[in-house]
Amino acid sequence: MITLRISATLLFFGAVNLITACGGSGHNANENLTSDTMPTSKTSSVLQQKYGNADGKEITQYTLKNAGGMEVKLINYGGTITNIMVPDSSGNFGDVVLGFDSMDGYLKKENPYFGCITGRYANRIAKGKFSIDGKSYQLPINNNGNTLHGGINGFNRKFWDAELLPGDSSIKFSYLSKDGEEGFPGNCKVEVKYSLSQNNELKIEYTATTDKPTAVNITNHSYFNLSAGKDSTILGHEIFINADKYVAVDNELIPTSELLPVKGTSMDFTVPATIGSDIAKVAGGYDHTYVLNKKSTTEPELAVTVLDPNSGRYMELFTTEPGVQFYSGNFLDGSLTGKNGMKYVKNGGLALEAQHFPDSPNQPSFPNTILRPGETFNQATIYKFSVKK
Ligand code: GLA
Repeated sequence: MITLRISATLLFFGAVNLITACGGSGHNANENLTSDTMPTSKTSSVLQQKYGNADGKEITQYTLKNAGGMEVKLINYGGTITNIMVPDSSGNFGDVVLGFDSMDGYLKKENPYFGCITGRYANRIAKGKFSIDGKSYQLPINNNGNTLHGGINGFNRKFWDAELLPGDSSIKFSYLSKDGEEGFPGNCKVEVKYSLSQNNELKIEYTATTDKPTAVNITNHSYFNLSAGKDSTILGHEIFINADKYVAVDNELIPTSELLPVKGTSMDFTVPATIGSDIAKVAGGYDHTYVLNKKSTTEPELAVTVLDPNSGRYMELFTTEPGVQFYSGNFLDGSLTGKNGMKYVKNGGLALEAQHFPDSPNQPSFPNTILRPGETFNQATIYKFSVKK
């Protein structure tokens, strides 16, 4: 039952406890073990090991692994992706996400949302105010007079329950955001499932339900640099964004309500272009929601591709969401020391946050982000990795 490949994983991580019972049902991921592996199918496994502590609670790191050797590591603090190991065009594996070497980094207040789940409302709500059915709500202000990423203690700062799932290498994180948390109405139950396929696809599926009408916009905030530490910036990456329009914003990055055409501007990535080619013409750099060209709201569709021409690593993003925030790491300034002592400089990584539009609760013309009792918020996003020679 324990395959050779899994044995290799075990050797790599040293002293281990094996879980041999691995049938069809889910497995409680929070057992008090130093390190253990659950084979989730003949070709996949999930390894778990102690990662650190936060607020007196033990933090566990989970490693999803497929037969080709791709690995995705996650922690139950913020439901955060800490590492994604994928090969370049010569077969050399490298870690393509920004982050820290240990728990301390993720706890820092300067942590710029590396790899985490953002919510209850990802991106900005103007002045932290909105109203539903005539009732007004005030959220904590944490970004130039506005609320960013769900407030001061958003989903990125929470402990998530973890459950290992059978089948593809996958894990489900669950969190109950209580009525009034960070000013939001309603008990909001959130589940986020991360699955790694044999085709090097990392799929993230989100659901949320509530017992009072509330505002919901949930995404993942991974920063990618497909060079895996070889290039300090992503300015040489080529990006394609399947969007003819973007959400215009004011100088606080709050939408003006206009959806502007990209054609003929530095915002146009309908034909793949190097990120650095026009970035100097965009005030502050790219930090905009693109309005995706879509046919379906239930099937993930191709939204973005990114190529690092040097390593050959290629990433495709598919999503059910109406928008994707393309953030070119403009606020990174070299002051953060990340993995392997690396200083994360301006444009050191790019985030592609599949989401609804910023400030939608205050923008009647934007797709709805108000979730009501009896409804389920669903979003699915896939990051698929391959190489182009
Ligand atoms: C999002 C925002 C950016 C920035 C980052 C976090 O991508 O749009 O402006 O706040 O989060 O640093």
